[in-house]
This record gives sequence, structure tokens and C-alpha cells, in this order.
Amino acid sequence: MNILNPAAVIGTNAWGSKAYSRAVRGSYVPDDVLMDSMREAREQDIALFDMARDYGLGKAQKMLGSFGTDGITISAKYTPFTHYRKGCVRKSLMKDLEDFGREYVDVYWLHLPTDIEDHLEEIAQLVKEGKIKHVGVSNFTLDECIRSREVLLRHGIPLYGVQNHYSIICREWEKNGLLKWCHDNGILFWGWAVLEEGLLVDPRVRKKSPMKLAFNRKVKKLAPVYDVMIDIASQRGIKVPQVAMAYCASKGVIPMTGCRKPSQVKDLADASRMKLTKEETARLESASDKVSVKIMGADIFRPFVLKERKR
Ligand SMILES: NC(=O)c1ccc[n+]([C@@H]2O[C@H](COP(=O)([O-])OP(=O)(O)OC[C@H]3O[C@@H](n4cnc5c(N)ncnc54)[C@H](OP(=O)(O)O)[C@@H]3O)[C@@H](O)[C@H]2O)c1
Repeated sequence: MNILNPAAVIGTNAWGSKAYSRAVRGSYVPDDVLMDSMREAREQDIALFDMARDYGLGKAQKMLGSFGTDGITISAKYTPFTHYRKGCVRKSLMKDLEDFGREYVDVYWLHLPTDIEDHLEEIAQLVKEGKIKHVGVSNFTLDECIRSREVLLRHGIPLYGVQNHYSIICREWEKNGLLKWCHDNGILFWGWAVLEEGLLVDPRVRKKSPMKLAFNRKVKKLAPVYDVMIDIASQRGIKVPQVAMAYCASKGVIPMTGCRKPSQVKDLADASRMKLTKEETARLESASDKVSVKIMGADIFRPFVLKERKR
């Protein structure tokens, strides 16, 4: 797995906690199945796991560490929120490393654009100590990314990537130029929730989930998008959600999907290496623009960005 050119990323926010899994995904997946998913990820050469301290009600990282992190690549985050403010990055990262049983993380993201300069200065110091290999920013606008890149470059550290929400129905970061800026500057763009929390899947597969219930009316409006996805999937002999993953990969976005089962890992690995044609992407985009449905929204976490504190 080449961290500088990963095909896909496995999301883990529904790992770790039975209560969280049931509340958000509607079901709990046993530990042995999750371990099989890790094995599958290694086999498919996409053993890159995206973590954060709060995933699975704070239990996902500990679970991954208990399964053993040999041969996997780890993406972790600093979330500047509640008591985690300026001056706390080291403390948070050291807890992560303890969870993973590791000396370093492969990629470390500033999860929200709060106190950008101060937090990136703290992160730069940890890079110099070898505790972080690559640095990215998540849920940042283009201006905030430009500022971040400048801060890191003062320390000779390149901005590794941007991790924002992206999907067939959420292309704001492309429309407002952030995706192009990333491509022009050799910065990776990881797209989180490319399945819109399990809503950009096959509508004919009946599966109850709290997300489906909550977004029932919007899901109905997505019918024309589903029609195109189903058509492309049947023409290519792939699964409907793989169209959503392959769409992102074809746009130069590294697809991140919440996988809990080996079959989902395989779906992601296969789809992320596919390239849709220009005509296929145009059909998906045209259907999406017509329905104009917002589920997660591009900048859903903006209300959690705290007011910049004076330096
Ligand atoms: N940086 C950030 O602020 C941020 C925010 C949110 C998420 N993320 C990252 O992005 C990752 C992905 O997002 P997400 O997990 O929230 O949502 P997601 O990947 O859009 O959707 C997850 C849902 O898709 C279903 N699914 C996964 N693979 C499937 C397949 N092959 N076929 C059919 N259904 C499939 C899952 O089913 P099951 O119910 O069977 O599991 C689950 O319900 C997260 O895990 C996290 O690592 C980052």
C-alpha cells in the first residue's frame, strides 16, 4: 500500500461500539467479521484505516489496536473540540499511539479548521519528532487549505491531503475549485462518506437503518440518480454502490467507505480501480444536479468550528 497513492480508504466510525453501530447503522457486526475485513483489506492492498478518537464512541481505535496493527496503514486525527484545544495535540496523539500500539501514525489530520496556525505548529513539531509521517486537513475550505499549506511549508512539510465530504450528490468542493487546487498542487483529496452514509446504494435492497428512516423523504427524491446508477451497474456487471465509489475514483477523489464486512472491502477495492467513462460521469452528474438533494452537505461540520483564539 503506497500512502502517496492509495486506491481507497476504509472508514471505521462504526467500529468499536455496539451501541453506536446499532444506533447509526442499525446493526452490530461481530469482532471476528471485522478482523476478517482487516485481512481482506491487506489482501486487496487497501489496508489503510481512517480513525479518530471519537469513532465508535471512543472505542474504534482501541479495537483496531487490540486486533493488531501490523501491516496496516493508519490515518488518525486531532479534533479541536470540547476540552481538546490549543496545546493539546501531543496529549491526544500520545493516546492514539497507545491505542494503536505504535510509535507513529502514517497520516494525521487537523479535523476541523479551528485555531489553524497554532494547531499546525504543534503538529509540525510532532512530525519533526517522527511521530507523524504525513499531515492533512479535514473539513477545510480552499482559503483555509492555502493558509495551512503555507504554515506547513514554513517547516518544510508538504500538505499531504485534504479530507472532505464528496459524493455523486455532493460536489461543492469540485464546483468551488478546491479539488482542482489539490490536483494542481499534488495534494491528495480523500472523499469521506462517498455512499452518503449508506444511502447511495441499491434502493431495491431492502435494509432498514436509522439513516434511511431519518432521510426517507430525500431518499425518495433521489430516484432519478438511482436509475442512472442501476443502469451503469447493470451495463458494467458491478454493484450499485460500486458506481458511487468508482465515480469518485474517476474524478481523482480517493473514496473512503465505512466497511465492516470483507465483501464491502472487496467491493471498495474493485470499484476504486475502475474508471467510469466521461459519458457515465456526465449522466450521474446531470441526474444529481436535477434532483439537487443534500444529505450530509459539503460543510456539515462548520457549526463545530470554534472561534479562533488570540495567539
Ligand atoms: N473527516 C471527517 O470529518 C469525516 C466525517 C465522516 C466520515 N469520515 C470517514 O469516512 C468514512 C466513511 O463514511 P461513513 O462510514 O460515515 O459513511 P459511508 O461510507 O458513506 O456509508 C457507510 C454505510 O454504507 C454501507 N456500505 C458500505 N460498503 C457497502 C457496500 N459495499 N455495499 C452496500 N453498502 C455498503 C454501510 O453498510 P453497513 O451498515 O452494512 O455497515 C454503511 O451503512 C468514515 O468511516 C470515516 O472514516 C470522516
